[in-house]
Amino acid sequence: MTTPTLHINHLQKNFGKFQALKDITFDIYPGEVFGFIGPNGAGKSTTIRTLLGILKASGGQATIFGKDVFKDAVAIHSRLAYVPGDVYLWPNLSGGEIIDLFLKLAHNKHTEKTDQLIKAFQLDPTKKARTYSKGNRQKVALIAAFSTEADFYIFDEPTSGLDPLNEEIFQQEVLKLKAAGKAVLLSSHILSEVEKMCDRIGIIRQGKIVETGTLQEMRHLTRTVVKVQTVEPTPEIAALVGVHNVEVNQNGSMTLAVDSEHLDSLMEYLSKKQILSLQATPPTLEDLFLRYYDSEVQTNEQ
Ligand SMILES: Nc1ncnc2c1ncn2[C@@H]1O[C@H](COP(=O)(O)OP(=O)(O)OP(=O)(O)O)[C@@H](O)[C@H]1O
Ligand SMILES: [Mg+2]
Repeated sequence: MTTPTLHINHLQKNFGKFQALKDITFDIYPGEVFGFIGPNGAGKSTTIRTLLGILKASGGQATIFGKDVFKDAVAIHSRLAYVPGDVYLWPNLSGGEIIDLFLKLAHNKHTEKTDQLIKAFQLDPTKKARTYSKGNRQKVALIAAFSTEADFYIFDEPTSGLDPLNEEIFQQEVLKLKAAGKAVLLSSHILSEVEKMCDRIGIIRQGKIVETGTLQEMRHLTRTVVKVQTVEPTPEIAALVGVHNVEVNQNGSMTLAVDSEHLDSLMEYLSKKQILSLQATPPTLEDLFLRYYDSEVQTNEQ
């Protein structure tokens, strides 16, 4: 079995009496992009800061490359690249100088790839950092990270200031890392980004991981919306197991929601009623997300 790049087991972090991390457990394997999502204040950045060895865990374990994140931070950092959401730069250095400084600190060099990235992200590296917008500051950190030869890349909301074109470049670069067998931890509020790139997702709420899995696996937890029109009437439909919110539309079609695990039996029923038209909309990550974000919702509700 492959060893995970990152292994987190029941990680906890207290700030005084406040327990910011109660129970964090997940692994990331080489060649995997892991999406780390959850509401504001859930504990994503605290988890990441613990992984970077900036904070000391109050309980549980976390290892990167099989090494303890706190005790072996120096060894780990030689194979790690990190981009925070709020990038602070030296105001009087130019973007280009800062990229080279970041690379030097990570024992890497400015290469052809660095130039390609500067071009792709359309950064003017000659300007002083104090003149940069938020998006430009993020680009500086991203260019340095992507041109660093690492085995594990951690991004904590790295694209919140990027425009759609640069967001696209970011996604392409992450997919290149994945293709090269690197492991990536991506904390993000941009669900389309997570949906497009991540192999597995972990949802964190109030310091606990409430769900991990592939998007496919998580979709089983939600409902598919079906719009259907049949020749024959379907009086029993609302009583079928797993069918909810049946509504009859003006044109005679029906809209309903079905638990993904009961889609089969619904289709079997409908096929006997001569289907005229059918449109099924799978749940989006957003539907999943809202379900977990709303603290009133129980995860095993009907
Ligand atoms: N140094 C600290 N001292 C005390 N409390 C802290 C500290 N750092 C974080 N917290 C608290 O821990 C909780 C988790 O914060 P964290 O920054 O990890 O959330 P997050 O998931 O990254 O949120 P966001 O999506 O807004 O970035 C919050 O309630 C925050 O107030
Ligand atoms: Mg954060």
